[in-house]
Amino acid sequence: MTTPTTTTTTTPATTTTTAEMTSHLPAVGARPTVTPGTTPGVAAGGRPAALELRNVVKEYPGHPPVRALDDVSVRIDHGELVAVVGPSGSGKSTLLNVMGTLDRPTNGVVSIDGADTSTLSDRRVAGVRARRIGFVFQQFFLLPGMTALDNVANGLLYQGVPPRDRRERSVVALQRVGLGHRLRHDSNHLSGGERQRVAIARALVHEPAFVLADEPTGNLDSKSTAAVMDLIGGLHDEGTTIVVITHDTAIAASLPRQVAVFDGRIESDSALEGATS
Ligand SMILES: Nc1ncnc2c1ncn2[C@@H]1O[C@H](COP(=O)(O)OP(=O)(O)OP(=O)(O)O)[C@@H](O)[C@H]1O
Ligand SMILES: [Mg+2]
Repeated sequence: MTTPTTTTTTTPATTTTTAEMTSHLPAVGARPTVTPGTTPGVAAGGRPAALELRNVVKEYPGHPPVRALDDVSVRIDHGELVAVVGPSGSGKSTLLNVMGTLDRPTNGVVSIDGADTSTLSDRRVAGVRARRIGFVFQQFFLLPGMTALDNVANGLLYQGVPPRDRRERSVVALQRVGLGHRLRHDSNHLSGGERQRVAIARALVHEPAFVLADEPTGNLDSKSTAAVMDLIGGLHDEGTTIVVITHDTAIAASLPRQVAVFDGRIESDSALEGATS
């Protein structure tokens, strides 16, 4: 299970707070063209990928070391909705941490919106993360005793956004996730599904290049799961780029693209099926 804290590795990106990670509103724009089989590193139609991993290896130290990611290359374009699916221990959380720049790879390159993070200092990477990535976690990570509005506005605290703008943008984000009628509800008094929608609003409020959702329905009952997946589908229809990490093959099958991970490697990628080699 993924935790939002810094992972214990020899090369941590930087210390990351939940508030830092859980900032951010995806661009609502034209649906981009997804180009299956695009050569890694070559932008489709001139626009860099929202997220690209090239030959990423992640090893955890130990005796012997654990190779949790083994030569992973994947490109996710703006506007895509992608499931990263795999069984327990396959490397999903490790992949999320590397995709989200919460942890640096042992080898290989992670590019966010065209920026090669391997060339950036930890401080610059933290800045890219705060501005360009939205996070949603299974455990929601809302601040108890705070309203839904304040929880979302909190995601803008470190962005230098004036308080009034923070509130206005948070209201819009909450309206987007269907919670315009729950702005001043204490987050403790919200249902699980509503809490996750607040967390999604918080992930969106900064207009990130993409949202990483780690088992976003893992703590929800089937009805709330359906509602949250409907919301994610609706956000995708508006142009938001979302990566859903899940062990649930039914959830993965319901999304437009599936990247299957097994033993630290990409076992299959539905976007590449049928692509000419
Ligand atoms: N900090 C760590 N140190 C050493 N080994 C680790 C560490 N984190 C993960 N691993 C190992 O790396 C492999 C991948 O773990 P990871 O947590 O990425 O899997 P996962 O697919 O997210 O699993 P789950 O579905 O159970 O959450 C596993 O074999 C795990 O034991
Ligand atoms: Mg995991």
